[in-house]
Amino acid sequence: MENNQPIGYMNVPVPKSIDLVQEIDRLRKEKNAVILAHYYQTGDIQDIADFVGDSLALAQWAAKTTADIIVLCGVHFMGETAKILCPDKKVLVPDLNAGCSLADSCPAVDFTEFVSKHPDYTVISYVNTTAAVKAVTDVVVTSTNTRQIVESFPADTKIIFGPDRNLGNYINSITGRNMILWNGACHVHEQFSLEKILELKAQYPDAEIITHPECKQPIIEVSDFVGSTVALLKHTIQSDIKQFIVATESGVIYEMQKQSPDKQFIPAPPNDSTCACNECVFMRLNTMEKLYNCLKFEMPEIYVDEEVQKRAVKSIQRMLEISAQLGL
Ligand code: 13P
Ligand code: SF4
Repeated sequence: MENNQPIGYMNVPVPKSIDLVQEIDRLRKEKNAVILAHYYQTGDIQDIADFVGDSLALAQWAAKTTADIIVLCGVHFMGETAKILCPDKKVLVPDLNAGCSLADSCPAVDFTEFVSKHPDYTVISYVNTTAAVKAVTDVVVTSTNTRQIVESFPADTKIIFGPDRNLGNYINSITGRNMILWNGACHVHEQFSLEKILELKAQYPDAEIITHPECKQPIIEVSDFVGSTVALLKHTIQSDIKQFIVATESGVIYEMQKQSPDKQFIPAPPNDSTCACNECVFMRLNTMEKLYNCLKFEMPEIYVDEEVQKRAVKSIQRMLEISAQLGL
């Protein structure tokens, strides 16, 4: 059904005279819709959202909302996660083309075959995966809870971890586990330039390098702090340091700056670009105009096959249960 949706209306021109903030707010109230946004969205979308969070928080909010419509301002797999958790609700994303290179690096057919070749392994998958991959997963994780969930299994548990090889390597290194890794990656986090980061460090010697664990090992090795989007944000709030070189998608700097107006945030640059910061092209497909159109037309909608939903929901629920037990 999803592929047959007419998606031209996503780009229906919105009259300049419309006050987008006011109209989005009106439509959300009228339709009992909740707007959830990831930290990698643009500042205007973060400002209008009912809730802004990382992948874990968005799933936790989706699981408990009483709204009739969930508008997920993020990428496709985030909308799918919300739909899997709330199959009876209408889940919308402002731009259906907002994919994820990491999720794309793990085709469900190949992953399922890989899993079937390791019948005695527990399958732990990052939330950045399709519903079909989640359906062959025992427990889903996000960057905020990966370490704790991996460590909640006995040390001798045989584990397949997918799809992010960098996050998997990092977790193996800090836990001493030997998980088998799927060879996937995120194009944004893999692109940071070690050379340019070190140049920035020379320019700002008092700055801390703070890094998301989806980055490659050489970047992680020179970092002062490694953590999920929320962990990085909390660290910048709690730390006495005044300057940070931020090696993750630059959208989160909006909230960092809001929380700590007296501190300086320097986006870490990517390898092959003249641009100083590193943005996820998929996340940036969402705009205020598309958010308005999406609330107005109640499209594009996320659909998940019923059988896939029934299997995938178990692995997400398991993550939410373990996270709740751990107070995450
Ligand atoms: P978190 O939101 O779990 O930090 O994940 C980062 C990311 O790349 C989301 O697409
Ligand atoms: Fe996917 Fe990377 Fe974009 Fe996150 S930043 S949505 S992992 S491509």
